[in-house]
Amino acid sequence: MSNRLEGKVALITGAASGVKGETMGFGGAAAWLFAAEGAKVAVCDIKDEQGKKTVTQLREAGHEAVFISLDVTSEEQWKRAITETVKAFGKLNVLVNNAGMGYMEKVEFMTVEQWDYEMAVHAKGTFLGTKHAIPEMRKAGGGSIVNTSSIFGFVGSPDSTAYHAGKGAARIFTKAAAIQYAKENIRVNSIHPGGVVTPMTEQMLSKRRVREAFEAKVPMGRLGMPEEIARGMVFLASDEASYITGAELVIDGGFIAQ
Ligand SMILES: NC(=O)c1ccc[n+]([C@@H]2O[C@H](COP(=O)([O-])OP(=O)(O)OC[C@H]3O[C@@H](n4cnc5c(N)ncnc54)[C@H](O)[C@@H]3O)[C@@H](O)[C@H]2O)c1
Repeated sequence: MSNRLEGKVALITGAASGVKGETMGFGGAAAWLFAAEGAKVAVCDIKDEQGKKTVTQLREAGHEAVFISLDVTSEEQWKRAITETVKAFGKLNVLVNNAGMGYMEKVEFMTVEQWDYEMAVHAKGTFLGTKHAIPEMRKAGGGSIVNTSSIFGFVGSPDSTAYHAGKGAARIFTKAAAIQYAKENIRVNSIHPGGVVTPMTEQMLSKRRVREAFEAKVPMGRLGMPEEIARGMVFLASDEASYITGAELVIDGGFIAQ
């Protein structure tokens, strides 16, 4: 522990996946790392049971954490989640818009309902979180918003459709918010992970052929680990990144450098 986030309050979405002994996601790994660095953490997700388990384990380890049930597509739920975070910890300094999902459908086979839901999670969810976090960050004298985009916010892939559109939206929305709030010391950055085994991808990447084909495209020759993404989130959330806004932090073993 080096207290890089000492005194900060962070709300992390899509953070239920922090149960020790199970496959962790970026949000779950970030919850642990943020707490270890001194932050108080609001763990938010639609997976209530798993989120509560994550928070129980965080508290047992001596950290300050609460679980807040949040569907990022709902403005009403966002308002409640921000209010509950401030009620629990007194303020809000950091927001990590990390919730995500994906339908593996080519353009012709993707339904309008799938498209709308996926865009709602990645694009609208990121917008709503940012919209409702800003007034609290202003009260706190500034803040840091970290939006989880993807390498697939830069480049296409054979089997996903709305995922690229949603992650691209999160990427460019980040820059609009960054310049609008820079003078208020509210920094907004995007993070772009490459392939990592998490609850969202483990079914797909547990197929040896799929995994090996992906690894073969990565210059470093391996998939990433959730902690390697969470470390980037800690950096962008911390005062070490005090002059960084509107930036894209790519953590992908070199995938899109090619
Ligand atoms: N794993 C990868 O290879 C990879 C690569 C690039 C980007 N990402 C992105 O990273 C983020 C985290 O994913 P992960 O791979 O750690 O998997 P994960 O399954 O741990 O995280 C996604 C979480 O988002 C939650 N979620 C989904 N819809 C939601 C909603 N409407 N409201 C609130 N929560 C919701 C899920 O319940 C889940 O807990 C996602 O945005 C994902 O798209 C993942």
